[in-house]
Amino acid sequence: MNSKVIILDTTLRDGEQALQTSLNTKEKLKIAFCLEKAGVDIMEVGFPISSPGDFKSVQTISKNIKNSKICSLARCIEKDIDIAAEAMSTCDSFRIHIFLATSTLHIESKLRKNFNEIIDMAVFSVKKALRYTDDIEFSCEDASRTTIDNLCRIVEKLIHSGVKTINIPDTVGYSIPNELSYIIKNLLERVPNIHKSIISVHCHNDLGMAVGNSISAIQAGARQIEGTINGIGERAGNTALEEIIMAIKVRKDILGVSTNINHQEIYRTSQIVSRICNMPIPPNKAIVGSNAFSHSSGIHQDGVLKNRENYEIIDPSSIGLKKIKLNLTSRSGRAAIKYYMNEMGYKDSDYNIDKLYIAFLKLADKKGQVFDYDLEALAFINEQQDKSEYFTLKFLSVQSISNNLSTASVTLLCGNKINIESATTNNGPVDAIYQALNRITHFPIILHKFELIAKGKGKDALGQVNILVKYKQRKFHGVGLATDIIQSSAQAMINVLNNIWKAKQVNKNLKNLKK
Ligand code: KIV
Ligand code: ZN
Repeated sequence: MNSKVIILDTTLRDGEQALQTSLNTKEKLKIAFCLEKAGVDIMEVGFPISSPGDFKSVQTISKNIKNSKICSLARCIEKDIDIAAEAMSTCDSFRIHIFLATSTLHIESKLRKNFNEIIDMAVFSVKKALRYTDDIEFSCEDASRTTIDNLCRIVEKLIHSGVKTINIPDTVGYSIPNELSYIIKNLLERVPNIHKSIISVHCHNDLGMAVGNSISAIQAGARQIEGTINGIGERAGNTALEEIIMAIKVRKDILGVSTNINHQEIYRTSQIVSRICNMPIPPNKAIVGSNAFSHSSGIHQDGVLKNRENYEIIDPSSIGLKKIKLNLTSRSGRAAIKYYMNEMGYKDSDYNIDKLYIAFLKLADKKGQVFDYDLEALAFINEQQDKSEYFTLKFLSVQSISNNLSTASVTLLCGNKINIESATTNNGPVDAIYQALNRITHFPIILHKFELIAKGKGKDALGQVNILVKYKQRKFHGVGLATDIIQSSAQAMINVLNNIWKAKQVNKNLKNLKK
């Protein structure tokens, strides 16, 4: 049996569909470039029929990615397949991923059909898709709750119709490892034409077993693993690819397989996906969490110092994690900034050095020392808060007395006009700022989520505020980063206001076009 495991990344499809606010084309393209650099074999980048935005993203990614195969999702509906093929038409070769539920539960209560009709629909759709590409993947949705006899029956028909990859999704994360390997072994033993296809698994993490299930599927003979970076995805998420990839590498002695992944890109890819998707990585997350390589107890520290292998099974540098350096001060020049950005894997064209340098000097004056991860945060959060934004905070003053009233005064530049407002509340300083801003913009905003996280370690950490608001049935996300958490709270709201303002401009232009 082939010893290569194909990695299909679905961060931009299954991962993205679970985010609180969807990503725009530019953000998706950035992630796609990272995935390409990381060496994923196939990237599933969207479900083009689902919205014009998704179609455009798939189209743009298809034009720009050369070294990973592009794949798009389609239901067993001719129009879905046509639109998926159209979105990827600029690729030399592409994959269409068709799915249809096969469990009795889904067939009867969701699709209201019988199993013979399911087989007919599946075979018909495969024939339609074969007009566009010979690379068809078929997912038997809810496969882990499908009877093994039915699964074997449909899989044989699908392979006979020309399907090259049979995907066995554990759609609701219900399976346990030996159940999934039982399914794979049965397919390999009972389906006569199984050798003409690759068996793939796609596991969800509802019982926390997505990675364990995927590993046991590999041991049973699956040779494609689907998952997402940092395990983002529906509900409890999907198989975390960085975990699977490192398990395959570290336990080659047992698993005897390998991937085409460039391991050095794992850490950076994880950081970028987390930042763009606004999904913080828990500190104890395997492989990429901030504590994954730090040793707290005295006995462990002593053991690691004597021999790293006593308590470390992975060399942090093998996933591209560089040691933290702290010799950047306000006396450091642009060359040093560029050097550290480069060390972290960023090209000059990934960020704006002029803007980054100004932000760095401000931070260095406040903190004394700036760490490499601070630079990363400044480069990309500043990027979202461009100087060309409509709303700019010119001045902020806050007075807060414990158990009493808080007052905020803001000076906000709106286009070319300066507005000054203040507000007083007994809900604390952040609420006072948000009320004062609201008196200027009058946007009917409802704050849904406010989250404060420390970027960096100890007292030198930066405070990052992530907020989510509802504005006229739409959700908008904002992020602010500063040494002072009151300042980052204000910046996060200004970021939201600018995002709303941009959306209003797009709406206006659309209305003008229709006139
Ligand atoms: O979880 C699932 O079943 C899916 C399919 C579309 C593959 O995401
Ligand atoms: Zn899924």
